[in-house]
Amino acid sequence: MDTSLPVVRSVCDLRARVADWRAQGLRVALVPTMGALHDGHLALVRRAGELADRVVASVFVNPTQFAPHEDFDRYPRDEAGDSAKLASAGCHLLYAPSVRAMYPDGFATSVAVAGPARGLCADSRPHFFGGVAVVVTKLFLQALPDVAVFGEKDYQQLQVIRRFTRDLDIPVRVEGLPTVREADGLAMSSRNAYLTPDERARAPELQRALSAAAAALAGGVEAAPVLEEVRHRLAAAGFGRVDYVELRDADTLEPLTRADGPARLLAAVWLGKARLLDNVPVAAG
Ligand code: PAF
Repeated sequence: MDTSLPVVRSVCDLRARVADWRAQGLRVALVPTMGALHDGHLALVRRAGELADRVVASVFVNPTQFAPHEDFDRYPRDEAGDSAKLASAGCHLLYAPSVRAMYPDGFATSVAVAGPARGLCADSRPHFFGGVAVVVTKLFLQALPDVAVFGEKDYQQLQVIRRFTRDLDIPVRVEGLPTVREADGLAMSSRNAYLTPDERARAPELQRALSAAAAALAGGVEAAPVLEEVRHRLAAAGFGRVDYVELRDADTLEPLTRADGPARLLAAVWLGKARLLDNVPVAAG
């Protein structure tokens, strides 16, 4: 199998490739990533290949979505490995710009997001969604794809992207794909690499606790005691700080006290050096 994948690093080269495809009447999909690719990312690429004729994957560790004390410097990077994985999943082009190409000297623009960007991850990472909004807006305008595919693992991020894409009339369809999990239920994430073997063995308890809570909440019961039970289970399993465990409206992410319409149960919790995110759907009671 040919594992070499063409790579472009400038907006100009990216647009030339996409223009060439468009001239042939081909549909284009974009899969934005920060690299360190796992099977969850590759599922996004395969889904993109079902939705379009050509798939571009971007690999860019975006500095504006990290706070100075966060893991930007030690975030795993492996462009050669990523490129081979993307090729095997049917990707046609890797877009890997430098930080300087994305944020040239004098860069001074922000994309302010509210609505679903309030609370949850924004409480502990206040800079995060602004950084994501800037980079994803840039990637959309650089590639001008027909469709872009994101994972539901980062559910709040997905809803924020859907919101600003609609609000700014960006002509890109945003497609979400259900979370891809390891055999034991742990949501796939590049940051799972930070877990020690002992922590890795405990980590699936997050998904188990959320699934049990989602089943209870589907009866329309009051959420607070159910959420408290999740916190107890996580503490008993040796997890660290719980940033949040919350029940939210599945679309707007407004807080809910019970699931009386389509809802989502979302959590962010620390285990050693890894901040694990997960979420599950909750059927209306
Ligand atoms: O989910 C990610 O990997 C990143 O937040 C994204 C969407 C590629 C923006 O940098």
